[in-house]
Amino acid sequence: MIIKKAEFVKSSVLLSQCPPDNIPEYAMIGRSNVGKSSLINMLTNHSKLAQTSSKPGKTQTINHFNINDDWYLVDLPGYGWAKVSENKKDDWKKMINTYLRERRNLMCVCVLIDSRHSPQEKDMIFIKWLGMNEIPFVLIFTKTDKQSALKTDQNIAIFKKGLLELFEEIPQYFITSSEKGIGKDPILNFISETNKSFIDPNKSETNF
Ligand code: GTP
Ligand code: MG
Repeated sequence: MIIKKAEFVKSSVLLSQCPPDNIPEYAMIGRSNVGKSSLINMLTNHSKLAQTSSKPGKTQTINHFNINDDWYLVDLPGYGWAKVSENKKDDWKKMINTYLRERRNLMCVCVLIDSRHSPQEKDMIFIKWLGMNEIPFVLIFTKTDKQSALKTDQNIAIFKKGLLELFEEIPQYFITSSEKGIGKDPILNFISETNKSFIDPNKSETNF
C-alpha cells in the first residue's frame, strides 16, 4: 500500500466524539513507552504525525489519523504506567474499554509488545481481555533494533508459550523497529487485505 495522505483528524476522550465510523479503523495499544506513536509515524512516513516522547504517558487521548481518505489509524494512551494517578488510570481504562468494545468500524487492535522484555502480566491480562470480548487483534513486537535478532527470537518464543496458555492458536504477529523501518510492508499489507472485508455499519442493516 502506498501512503498518499496521512493527516491528524482529532483527539477524543469519549467514543461519541470520535469521527464518523464509515471507514475501517486500526488502533495501536500497549504499555506506555512501547512505541505506539513512533510506529504510526513509521507506517505513514512522517516523523512527527503522532507525538512521541522518551517519557511515558505522552499520549492521553484517542487520536484519529486519516490515511488515504480510506481508513483510520488510531493512537491510544498506554497502559501500565505507574506514575499516573489512580483516578486518571480509571478514566483512561473506562475510555479505552468503551472505545474497544463499542467502536463499530474497529477492524483490528494492534497490541504492541516491547520485544526486549519477558512477558509482562499487564500485557497478558489485556490480551486475555481482548480474547474474552472477542475483539480481533494482532501483536506487534517493537524496538527490535535495540538487541540482536537472536534475542528477539528467544523473547518471542517465550511470549508464544505464554499465549498458548490462553489461546489454542498463536495470534498473528509482526516484528518491527520504528527506528529502522522494519515491519512496515507486512503491516500495511495486512491492513490493506483486512480493509477488503469492511462493511460500513451505517449501511449494512438496510442493505438486504
Ligand atoms: P505513550 O504515548 O507514552 O504511551 O508512549 P508510546 O507507546 O506512544 O511510545 P513513543 O512512540 O512515544 O516512544 C517512546 C520512546 O521509545 C521514544 O523515545 C521513541 O523514540 C522510542 N522508540 C519507539 N520505537 C522505537 C524503536 O523501534 N527503536 C528504538 N530504538 N526506539 C524506539
Ligand atoms: Mg504515544
